[in-house]
Amino acid sequence: MSFNALRAPARRAAVQLRGVPKSQLRSSFRRYTTETPPPKASSNAGLYFGLGAVALGGVGYYLFSSESNAAKETVSAAKGGIQAAKAKANFVPTQEDYQKVYNKIAELLDEAGEYDDGSYGPVILRLAWHSSGTYDKDANTGGSNYATMRFQPESLHGANAGLNVARELMEKIKVQFPWISYGDLWTLGGVAAVQEMQGPRVPWRAGRVDGFEQHVTPDGRLPDASQGGDHLRSIFGRMGFNDQEIVALSGAHALGRCHKDRSGFDGPWTFSPTTLTNDYYKLLFEEKWTWKKWAGPKQLEDKKTKTLMMLPTDYVLTQDKSFKKVAKSYADNQEIFFKDFSAVVAKLFELGVPTAQFASDPWELKTLDEQKE
Ligand code: HEM
Repeated sequence: MSFNALRAPARRAAVQLRGVPKSQLRSSFRRYTTETPPPKASSNAGLYFGLGAVALGGVGYYLFSSESNAAKETVSAAKGGIQAAKAKANFVPTQEDYQKVYNKIAELLDEAGEYDDGSYGPVILRLAWHSSGTYDKDANTGGSNYATMRFQPESLHGANAGLNVARELMEKIKVQFPWISYGDLWTLGGVAAVQEMQGPRVPWRAGRVDGFEQHVTPDGRLPDASQGGDHLRSIFGRMGFNDQEIVALSGAHALGRCHKDRSGFDGPWTFSPTTLTNDYYKLLFEEKWTWKKWAGPKQLEDKKTKTLMMLPTDYVLTQDKSFKKVAKSYADNQEIFFKDFSAVVAKLFELGVPTAQFASDPWELKTLDEQKE
């Protein structure tokens, strides 16, 4: 078994596995628009029209709403809306502009201080995933396009508990770059999180537009960690993913941790939760996992140290024949895992976005370290 804490870059000097996370209060995103949706954008012009329309709708609702105790988030969203409306008139962002947004997010990831394991990367990646993973290929609804987690009740869905932390962090970036749509911002956050935590390049392109409350997705579209293989296939199959892709996506659990006050589960999956490696798969096969005896939901712990955890949906990757074959190949070879992870995360972040909305072919944005070289 390899314990990778020492592999974390010096820049990210935070002590790994710092222990119990600080309790995070759940806050809600108030509704801030009731307008009808913009016409389907088919070009850059449409895209910015859509963005402006949403921005104005948001501002209008904010100004005329009878509810006066607007949440901090709503205020900044409304301010961002005004700026976005101004900005969209004569500004067409280029790859360089998106690299600037990436850089600001990348810097923010390291400003976590005492939060969790010293990086905001995992929770920001989770926001990008949960905003994309609502996609239903048959109904052609959900996905990253409309960033509907800004609205209730989606912001309050049980699966999204704790993601207010990531949304509030992303607001700090949004006010600096008011022209970017929330869907682009959140998925770019996911890309920055993966790349800055030493993962592979994730090709990404701009083009998502902000949606409306009416685009909010129903509860129950994200996976339930207490279930098994059939559930995983049904949930991820609905998004258009096969067995190999399910296993590759699950490797994101090399990062971050579960929080008792969010999902009810507790603890990290690996010893290096702010560095992406294939340790998640290695640990699944190399450690002995036993059911944790506690009052919380059913989860496994490693027999040796009792400091790591696996969800029932993680453990099933070692029990199901088809999943196991892929998981073993990732345990044996990090390069293969990185190649597949890059492709599947790029696909995940584009779910629900009509191809015509994309302004270009995918880009590979540079990490902060690469730009220093
Ligand atoms: C296979 C089905 C999945 C299930 C059942 C699942 C479930 C969970 C649960 C219960 C948590 C703990 C949340 C908390 O208490 O804060 C979590 C965290 C996390 N998940 Fe998943 N997840 C799945 C797939 C994914 C995918 C596809 C990704 C990304 C590509 C992902 C990325 C993460 C990350 C980075 C965290 C850590 C968040 C943090 O540290 O705040 N998960 N997941």
